[in-house]
Amino acid sequence: MFYEDHKQQIDELISRYPNPRGACLPLLWLAQDKYGYLTDDAMEEIAEILDLALNDLEGVASFYTMYFRRPVGRHLIWVCRTLSCSMLGSGKLLDHLKEKLGVEVGETTPDGRFTLLTQECLAACGEGPVIQVDDKYHTHMTIEKVDALIEELSRDLVDAPVEEDRIA
Ligand code: FES
Repeated sequence: MFYEDHKQQIDELISRYPNPRGACLPLLWLAQDKYGYLTDDAMEEIAEILDLALNDLEGVASFYTMYFRRPVGRHLIWVCRTLSCSMLGSGKLLDHLKEKLGVEVGETTPDGRFTLLTQECLAACGEGPVIQVDDKYHTHMTIEKVDALIEELSRDLVDAPVEEDRIA
């Protein structure tokens, strides 16, 4: 139960806003942080807590690319595909990542470790091509740097069990 398990955090987030509905995005973020994605149960509870129609909440969750309604990999890799990064070679990096990970954009590797995504301008155009991994930017990326990054992330995960419910 989302509310029962995180009552203190949820109440604190709601208390920051004059209208409880102002806490919509933070509550979605909290649920995603706890479960890895926005589960149906969490969505229903958030809608109830904020007195929102579930369809309206679904509309919010689907509008923002940072929210996921299905399981994703442990690491999210976002490749910027907008003009500056594109001119600096982000397309080649994306192709390389597809081949290296064996997935298409939007897919998760079979071991549940990586989900490959694209993103519009990540607002670091002067430092492209830019790749975001989870909440960290990696700038001036090259194929060699991408390989090193994947290797480093894979090493981090060698001893960590993959959570089955996070595999897409
Ligand atoms: S175009 Fe890639 S960060 Fe702006």
